This record gives sequence, C-alpha cells and structure tokens, in this order.
Amino acid sequence: MLNRSTEAPSLDVPFDTSAEGLRLRAELEAGLRAPHACISPKFLYDALGSKLFEAICEVPEYYPTRTEAAIFERHGAEIARAVGTGSTLIDLGAGNCAKAARLFPLLHPAQYVPVDISADFLQDAVERLQQRFRHIEMNPLGMDFSGGDWRLPDVVRQEHRLFFYPGSSIGNFSPEDALAFLRRVRAQCGPDGGILIGIDLAKEHAVLDAAYDDALGVTAAFNLNVLRHANLLLGADFDIRAWRHHGFYNEREGRVEMHLEARRSQQVTWRGGSRRFEAGERIHTENSYKYRPAAAVGLLEQAGFAAAGVWTDERGWFAVIHARAIPPGALH
Ligand code: AVI
Repeated sequence: MLNRSTEAPSLDVPFDTSAEGLRLRAELEAGLRAPHACISPKFLYDALGSKLFEAICEVPEYYPTRTEAAIFERHGAEIARAVGTGSTLIDLGAGNCAKAARLFPLLHPAQYVPVDISADFLQDAVERLQQRFRHIEMNPLGMDFSGGDWRLPDVVRQEHRLFFYPGSSIGNFSPEDALAFLRRVRAQCGPDGGILIGIDLAKEHAVLDAAYDDALGVTAAFNLNVLRHANLLLGADFDIRAWRHHGFYNEREGRVEMHLEARRSQQVTWRGGSRRFEAGERIHTENSYKYRPAAAVGLLEQAGFAAAGVWTDERGWFAVIHARAIPPGALH
C-alpha cells in the first residue's frame, strides 16, 4: 500500500527488539500461521526488494510507471494550470522524491513535504534536492502513513495543501482501506486543498497477467524475496527454491494477486514457531486493485473530494486525477 515512488521503505530489522520491530514480527508470524497464509506487501520492500521494484519499473511488461510518466510528460502544463502554483505539496511515499521533483518546474510549490517510512533515505534525497531547488522550503517527514491514525505535524503549512499520491499505490489497499485512507487525507486537506493521484485502470487480462509475471522473472524475484526477508526478520528457514511465483488477474475481485506456491510439502520453522505447507499450498503476498475510471472518481467522491480533472494515456490504461476537497458544509 502503500505505495510509493520507486524507492520503498527498508524494513530490515532482524531481531529488532524495539516496539516497532516486535510489532512487525508479530504481524508477519500471524500471517504465516493463518489458515490461508499471507504476508503483508509491506514486507516486499526491504533494501533488495526496493531495488527489485525499481527493476520491475524497467521491464517492458510493467506499464504503470512509464504510462503515468508519459501522462505527466504530455499533460503536465495543463495539470499545473488545474492544480495551481504555490501549493504545500505533500508527497506520500516520496522515496527518492524523483516523481515530485519532475513537477517542481511546473507546480512551483511554496513548501515541499515528502513523507516516507524510510526517514534516513528520505533525508539524503531531500538534501540533494534542496541544492537544486533552494527557494522551495522542504520539510521531510519520516512517518508510516499506511495505518489509520497518522496526522501531519504543525510544520506543514495549512494553505493550499496538495497531496501527491502517484504510482497507483492506492491499488495495494483493499477498496475499504483505500476509502479510509482517502478520508484521512481529506480530513487534513483544509478548505482549499486537494489530491493529485495516479490510479491504474482495469484493462485486458493478458496485459495485467504479463505485467505481474514478466518473462525475465523480475516480479517473481521481487515476490520470492519476501521469503528471504522473512528468514531475516523471523530467523525462519524458508528454502526459496521450494517456492514459485504466481501473479495473475482475478476478475471476480477486480485485482491482480501475487502468491507464492509451495513446489513440495515442507516444514518451515522460525524462532518460536513452525508450520507445515503442503505441495501446492499458497502464501498470498499482494493485491493490486484496478479501477474503472468512474469507480476511481466515485471512490474520491465518497472520501469527500470532487474530481476536477482526469488525464489518461491514449490506451486508457492509467489515470492521473486531480480532485478538490469538498467543503464540509457542501457534503450531504
Ligand atoms: C507499488 N505498487 C503500486 C505495485 C503494483 O503494481 O501494485 C507493486 C508491484 N507488485 C508487483 N509489481 C509491482
């Protein structure tokens, strides 16, 4: 969910005994013990996983990143006219800040607030960016905004807040969680705020199947790496060669699913627990919801936004949507 530019948070905290480390391990273990085993997609993004995701963005089959970039390339000036200049630009899941930085010459934000769970990584990226754009006030925030109760600190200006949430990271939430997330964003918009969001659209199944199961096996490596990460975090003994990647579109659910399937029966042991997996049994690792344009706009409306502009590519594969916060009095 999270979502994110091409760099994602590092969760490499083997045997970290901090409250956060314990919470992450407990969450991972609970998923492995569940009747239908699952691992939250956030565990895909350790240091190697983040690099593998960057590589995914380069494979020919994975169209979202380059399609979204092409939309900004082609319609950037119009998008800038619609959202206006001088905003407080809040970049959710900023990573290396590259996507937002490409918009600076068009948007001329007054303040830039990149938010990412990976605080150190963010700090380095912002220091470099500040050299290039000295006149923009930059306030990086190391914060996990995937949960239900985050809020921006007072250092973030109230005026003209524009939340930037590209890359279709919204698709990694279930629709219910996506709505809750957007409502939280809306609550922090202020009366003149809005959101600029990238959303991947429903399309031909073969395109989606290929995008999440590319010929080079980069997505497979990205998915399998979550087992290596689990080995580090839990002291588990997953044999990565004993698992295979599955990435496919589930039409009934309107989402791409990623799973790992046991190639043979096996016992997996970790510090304080173990589980038997039968041959063919799966661990569910990610959902990536694909929206129809009207459903995407409807989701934003339910969250208290009014869509002001929708830009798509020629094939209608991806949408960039600008939506303004509806003043509370105008909501019924
Ligand atoms: C980060 N997120 C929007 C990607 C997606 O398409 O759902 C993650 C990803 N999983 C497999 N390939 C890419």
